Amino acid sequence: MKKLLVTGGAGFIGANFVHYWMAKYSADKVVVLDALTYAGNIANLDSVKDDANFNFVHGNICDQALIETLLVEHSIDTLVHFAAESHVDRSITGPDAFIETNIIGTYSLLKSAKKVWLDGKSILEGHRFHHVSTDEVYGTLSPTDPAFTESTAYAPNSPYSASKAASDHLVRAYHHTYGLNVTTSNCSNNYGPFHFPEKLIPLVITNILHDKALPIYGDGQQIRDWLYVEDHAYGIDLVLQNGRVGENYNIGGDNEWTNIDIVKTISKLVEQEFLKNKDLATRFPAAKAAMAQNTESLISYVKDRLGHDRRYAIDATKTINELSYKPKESFETGIAKTVAWYLNNEAWWQSVMDGSYQNWIAEQYS
Ligand code: NAD
Ligand code: DAU
Repeated sequence: MKKLLVTGGAGFIGANFVHYWMAKYSADKVVVLDALTYAGNIANLDSVKDDANFNFVHGNICDQALIETLLVEHSIDTLVHFAAESHVDRSITGPDAFIETNIIGTYSLLKSAKKVWLDGKSILEGHRFHHVSTDEVYGTLSPTDPAFTESTAYAPNSPYSASKAASDHLVRAYHHTYGLNVTTSNCSNNYGPFHFPEKLIPLVITNILHDKALPIYGDGQQIRDWLYVEDHAYGIDLVLQNGRVGENYNIGGDNEWTNIDIVKTISKLVEQEFLKNKDLATRFPAAKAAMAQNTESLISYVKDRLGHDRRYAIDATKTINELSYKPKESFETGIAKTVAWYLNNEAWWQSVMDGSYQNWIAEQYS
């Protein structure tokens, strides 16, 4: 039985990981620590909040005293670190928060873990610090370059990816220097339920439903390698169970798509759903207008992202060979599930859009 501290568990991937873990390992204890920034949403944890093995703590990963208390009081043996500033566009307009959370925050967690697990009266054998990172640390690829492997040199290009690269190096150093049991996974673009609608896929789905423009940066020929979020949770599970301490593991979906093709695919899927289910036109009257023409007509080419990486692609051979990793969803099944989730969970994304998803914080401190 494990006792997990999950940082960033109220965010997109963290919450999906908590759902996955608690369904599969129902006897394990899970403590979520989350600062509930704009990206955190307590409603993402609704389905587990009443479980006796679940605890939510509203706090910051930079708060070392809090982390040490949590590690001791909950006898944590496994820390899974998702908390981060995650949106590349925001890192371009405001890098400070990325340096603070992604670098200083990870450093604070490492210091606390070392203090509690290694520097006390007795070393906690079998502890694990798992760091969730990104393929963006490897930089960008040309259309013909081989995909990123774990030995590809780091070459981060955005303030976001530079901050993640710095945190990866700190994690590695805490293993090499102090013997902290660390693993790191570097994953490609995730998609699925609870994805914050500033990111491409949920933005496109929700904009179609509002009959709003679908912004394509630059020429739309940039390539991302998409992975259904539950397959990411599964990959982390395998690394936690059988990954070698001190190692990095790439996790990907082998699903390279240009941005423009993704947007066109989603447009078609939403149109098909409206044809199958007449009720949708009543629920989303704005989208009815878009459906009357062709949703692709909403596509609008806009100014490119500064320093926009052209292509990401993950070679997950090491994770496949060592840990028998295999994604369960194809892009076709994953994107269909995702579109269906957004159509069926309007209350979730409406509360994000009108800001009421953050009422919980005000209520706690009033
Ligand atoms: P997200 O932005 O949806 O969620 C981040 C969560 O961290 C939020 O709940 C937020 O409130 C919390 N948080 C932020 N700063 C905090 C702080 N200082 N203290 C405590 N909590 C804080 O992010 P995501 O997309 O779920 O990504 C999770 C992790 O996975 C990140 O480390 C990201 O770099 C990595 N990653 C993401 C993707 C992707 O496609 N989204 C792909 C590869 C790796
Ligand atoms: O590769 C993993 C990374 O994937 C993670 O580390 C990041 O946390 C995560 O946010 C994601 O980064 P991207 O920048 O690739 O994701 P985003 O959804 O912001 O953009 C995907 C692509 O779509 C990218 O090439 C930019 C483009 N884009 C994005 C938006 C929001 C558009 O063309 N229009 C848009 O409006």
